[in-house]
Amino acid sequence: MSKIVLITGASSGIGKSMASYLQQQGLNVYGTSRNSEHGQVIDGITFLKLDVTNDQSVHDAVSYLLEKEGKIDVLINNAGIGMVGSGEDSTPIEMKVQFETNFYGTVRLMQAVLPSMRNRKEGLIINISSLAGLFGLPYRGVYSAAKFAINGLSESMRMELISYGVHLSVICPGDFKTPIKTSRIRAKKSESSVYKEEFDKVYTLMNEELDNSGDPVQVAKMAFKIIGTKEPRPFYLVASAFQKCVVMLRYWIPTKAFQWLMMRNYKMLK
Ligand SMILES: NC(=O)c1ccc[n+]([C@@H]2O[C@H](COP(=O)([O-])OP(=O)(O)OC[C@H]3O[C@@H](n4cnc5c(N)ncnc54)[C@H](OP(=O)(O)O)[C@@H]3O)[C@@H](O)[C@H]2O)c1
Repeated sequence: MSKIVLITGASSGIGKSMASYLQQQGLNVYGTSRNSEHGQVIDGITFLKLDVTNDQSVHDAVSYLLEKEGKIDVLINNAGIGMVGSGEDSTPIEMKVQFETNFYGTVRLMQAVLPSMRNRKEGLIINISSLAGLFGLPYRGVYSAAKFAINGLSESMRMELISYGVHLSVICPGDFKTPIKTSRIRAKKSESSVYKEEFDKVYTLMNEELDNSGDPVQVAKMAFKIIGTKEPRPFYLVASAFQKCVVMLRYWIPTKAFQWLMMRNYKMLK
């Protein structure tokens, strides 16, 4: 019997690519979207209706799938939105929206599937984080904070779950060409901010990087590799050669030097 894989946020971008690639490899994939119905088939993928910010919605979707298939072998927490704006301009309310989706959404899904995975002494959770979860990115501090939070919680939970036969891995993707910029939260104060000029410059550069980035199928291939691995690692990096070098530099050179290079890249040096 093929593995049952649940991928949140499969209507677009990385999630859509993973759903179609994993299904092509013979896995039994269920995707989710806020705009679908349970059991609706879109582009050959069976969808569930799911809003990760809503407890009841998470409970309904996971219960529906467990009732239908009797198990969930793999959960891929992918649903997420971006957020931009300076740390000073981002209000706690805006930050809460980011954390509700990217962090608490991941938490809700993990807590909903774990009892059944623990009972079966088998299961795999893959959390989609970001390079932004490895170092702070200018004008994306809140997004970075939510991804750091995912990395920290995942690292801890992985140790707690091992004796229950449940594996947990994090994929940190670099930039991949998806429509993520269209749904980003933008701190409202950015428009009239003292940071506006620099923010606009950095924002343009970050969008250019995204527009020139690679095919998200690379993330899908990594997810497939992890699913086929007996003892998966805590963290996996999927990124261009350039972005992989940036990650290495983060750990090899002093933070001050790393940030100088980052600011140079985003034309922030005065
Ligand atoms: N693209 C990149 O360069 C990149 C890099 C690193 C990490 N990531 C991460 O990869 C993940 C996917 O990003 P993407 O680039 O593929 O973005 P995307 O194309 O905008 O897709 C986002 C997906 O998340 C779903 N979603 C958003 N809010 C949701 C909510 N409240 N409840 C349920 N689903 C929700 C959307 O589904 P519906 O709107 O249909 O509900 C959509 O399918 C995110 O976690 C992102 O942070 C992306």
